[in-house]
Amino acid sequence: MSGGQGHKLLEAQLAPYQPATFGFTPENFAEAQKIIAKYPAGKQQSALMPLLTMAQEQNGNWLPVAAMNYVAALLEIPVMRAYEVATFYTMYNLKPVGKHFIEVCTTTPCWLRGSDDIIKACKSKLGIDVGETTADGQFTLVEAECLGACVNAPMLQIGEHYYEDLTAESVTKMIDDLSAGRTITPGPQNGRQRAAPIGGLTTLTDSPKAAPKQKESASEKTSTKASAKSGPNTPNQDEPKARPKATRSPTPVENVPTSKEAKAGKTAKTSTASAKKVAEPAAKRTTVPKTPATSPKAKPAAERKTAPAEKRGEKAPPAKVKAPAKPTPKKK
Ligand code: FES
Repeated sequence: MSGGQGHKLLEAQLAPYQPATFGFTPENFAEAQKIIAKYPAGKQQSALMPLLTMAQEQNGNWLPVAAMNYVAALLEIPVMRAYEVATFYTMYNLKPVGKHFIEVCTTTPCWLRGSDDIIKACKSKLGIDVGETTADGQFTLVEAECLGACVNAPMLQIGEHYYEDLTAESVTKMIDDLSAGRTITPGPQNGRQRAAPIGGLTTLTDSPKAAPKQKESASEKTSTKASAKSGPNTPNQDEPKARPKATRSPTPVENVPTSKEAKAGKTAKTSTASAKKVAEPAAKRTTVPKTPATSPKAKPAAERKTAPAEKRGEKAPPAKVKAPAKPTPKKK
């Protein structure tokens, strides 16, 4: 398409009357700055759609060329970027529209559920065709592609709100109410709760039952049998083994001689002193038994060690047999 043809097409979409200037109100200007600040430096073009929407809302739900130029200047982008977006998306109105902007969805699910009847009822009640506005400027009727509420088809949108589960009668009543200045309730028009079944629940109708007992799996059975055979204290082979306890070094770090001390021959002294330090509390522990005197454990450790095996009621260990000396090879 040549530039001249594109310009003519754009002209055909525009309103014959165009205001000479446009500017945001102080509140909208502040809001626009906040929106622009959401994007990184140099990417301010990303704020184009929300700013065009704001301009349209400020201008009575339609977007004049002056508003597109103003937004483009604010974002420091070519005006063509703003025209491209405004003429591509159907949510931007390039001509003035009625106070109540009616968009009837006519895509397949809504069409199958009777959107033709909805359009017919609107045309008949308003006395206009699709794409037209009533003489009093109250209503504009347009067709729209799927508005994403197919589960409540057929439906239409007026301004920001959805009206769903429509019939020719309910649409006619809605238009009557709006004409009389009465408010209408958005959502399903047949008493249905949002997208729930109209006749009540069709699934999950009984109260929840207790969960059935789980059957033991074959591997669990084998594991149980093995545990029974090996006794209660035998660890299960499948279970992870306990980590060994960390052992502390018996020599405190402070008792390790420094290289200077070692040179000065202090090593032996320090080691003996450390050994005494460690041994002393141990000896004290053996002389103060905590268990009753009747218990064999009550005997001091020294006595237990020195008493002969027979006296302790133990079997005497066999006498050590000296290994025969290896024959020394004769020197030749
Ligand atoms: S087809 Fe009408 S809302 Fe999806």
